This record gives sequence, structure tokens and C-alpha cells, in this order.
Amino acid sequence: MKHFLKETDCPRSYLDGLFSLAREYKEQRGRHGKPLAGQTWAMIFSKSSTRTRVSFEVGIHELGGNPLFLNRNDIQLGRGESIADTARVLSRFVHGLIVRTFEHAEVQQLADTGSIPVINALTDLLHPCQIFADAFTLAERWGHGRDLVASLRGRKIAFVGDRGCNVANSWIMGANLFGMKISLAGPKSFAAAPEFNQLLAQEGFAGGYHFTTDPYEAVRDADVVYTDVWVSMGKEEETADRIKLMSPYTVTPELMAAAKPGALFMHCLPAHAGQEVTQTVLDSPASIIFDQAENRLHMQKAIMAMLAKK
Ligand code: CP
Ligand code: NVA
Repeated sequence: MKHFLKETDCPRSYLDGLFSLAREYKEQRGRHGKPLAGQTWAMIFSKSSTRTRVSFEVGIHELGGNPLFLNRNDIQLGRGESIADTARVLSRFVHGLIVRTFEHAEVQQLADTGSIPVINALTDLLHPCQIFADAFTLAERWGHGRDLVASLRGRKIAFVGDRGCNVANSWIMGANLFGMKISLAGPKSFAAAPEFNQLLAQEGFAGGYHFTTDPYEAVRDADVVYTDVWVSMGKEEETADRIKLMSPYTVTPELMAAAKPGALFMHCLPAHAGQEVTQTVLDSPASIIFDQAENRLHMQKAIMAMLAKK
């Protein structure tokens, strides 16, 4: 694995090893090897972040490396220096690059023009670190300590709300990669971008999801109900329209009751209680939102260790 820009950058044959390594890091926190010893990994962020920034900074440190946080506006990239020159220069100084930005093409160009591993820490198109940590969170529960990746196969996830957002797109990719079924419910007008449909086709996943405007239809027989904010970063101008159109898609206790008995609730966070989900669901025993958040650390450490190995 050279870069981690999208779920399918991790070959299927690496998945078992990656999930086992994440579990090992979780179990042996602070007592494991230091595969990033002597290395510096830079993080270029063009958007806000709590979980991603902190989990990467802590994770790099725990693997023996040095994290270097760079706000886009503090470096020359924010003043128009080209992506290619930024990638070539940073490749002379640091050993890996973690990038949160708007255009997905930007992470691709950094990867193509630099000579160090690049990790996608969220673009408008995809959020693969989130989905790998989420899948690990589910596998921990269903795999009973072994067969982590295999335990996901055949399970159904229902995504309710902004079905065209980065997290929804990444879950479509992830569900296909892990052999899960995925059903999405949301307003017709917030469909996935054409760029995402092209990517799905390119990865051989065209048609690999079910879409409905009826949230109750989507959650039927679902093992997991997932949602994300209705207004993603960069979409603030559309706030009023989005809230109006998505209001039938709040995840309520009634909607959870229509899923499979024992179904889990997931959210990548940050959450807006009263919009995409009620506080009651967030606080319910079905909710595993903070396990998801914690597992960002363990899974991203495993991803960095694998990339550092080459
Ligand atoms: N889920 C997630 O990526 O959170 P942050 O935006 O806080 O990093
Ligand atoms: N879809 C959200 C995810 C935040 C982690 C956003 O892009 O803002």
C-alpha cells in the first residue's frame, strides 16, 4: 500500500493484517513497537477538526514519530504555491503527509507529485480513515476477538440523511470492500456527485448500493443505522435548504426500532442533536459513537505503520 486516499487503496489481502494490527495497538497502547521512530509526518489541514487532528497527532507520537501540524493558511499553499511544488518540497523534509481538504483531486495530486505516503484525512468526496475505524469498531463487536474482517460480511448498514456526503460515499465504498449491504435514505436532490459515481464504476462497485427516499425502508433488517451532519464543512451556504429537505430523516427512537432488533447506532461526529439524530438515540445503549471516535486512533496508527513499511 503506497497511499491511503480511498478505501480501495488498501488491497483486500491487507485487510486482515491491518485490522489485527489496529487491535494489537489498542490492546498494547504504549507498549508496542515504534515504526515511525526518527520520522516526521506533516498534517496539512484546510478544514476544522477535533478527532482527526488529535488522533493523528497522538498516534504519530505513540508510534515514535514527530507530528507537524500545518494550517493551510500558514503555509505558502494558502497563498497560491502549487500543490506539486508543495508536495516536492515537503517530500525532502518529512516522511508522510496527512491531508484534510476540499477537492479530492488535491490529495491525488499531492500523492502523484510527491515521493512520500499521503493519507486522506477527509475531502469533499471521501473520508476513508473514518470508515476503516468504523468497520473496525463493528468487527470488534461481531468478530469475538478473531475473524475481524470476515465478521462484517453479509451485514447491512443503513445510512440516513445526507446520502451524498463524503461519509456516505466512503461507506458505499467500504460496504462493497467488506462485503456488506448498504441502503441509503435521503432527499433525491442530494445525490452523490458525478465524480463519485465515476469512481464507483472504476472500482467495479457500480450499483453496489440501494437508495430510497423512505428512511423506514432503508433501516429494515439493518444491523447498523448511521448518520452524519446535514451540513458538511463547505456547504454552510445551503444550511436553510438542507435542514428543510432533510427534516424527515432525523434518526429517532422510532426509526431505530424499525431496524433489526439490537441494531447499533453510529455517527462519525460532530453531531447536531435535534437535526440528524435525537439526543435520546445518541445517549441510548445502541449508540457506539465514542468507540468509533476512539478507534480512529488505533486504526490510523495501523494505516501509518503499514504505509511506513512500504
Ligand atoms: N469524524 C471526524 O472526522 O471528526 P473531526 O472533524 O473532528 O476530525
Ligand atoms: N460530512 C462531514 C464529516 C465531518 C467529520 C463534513 O464533511 O463536514
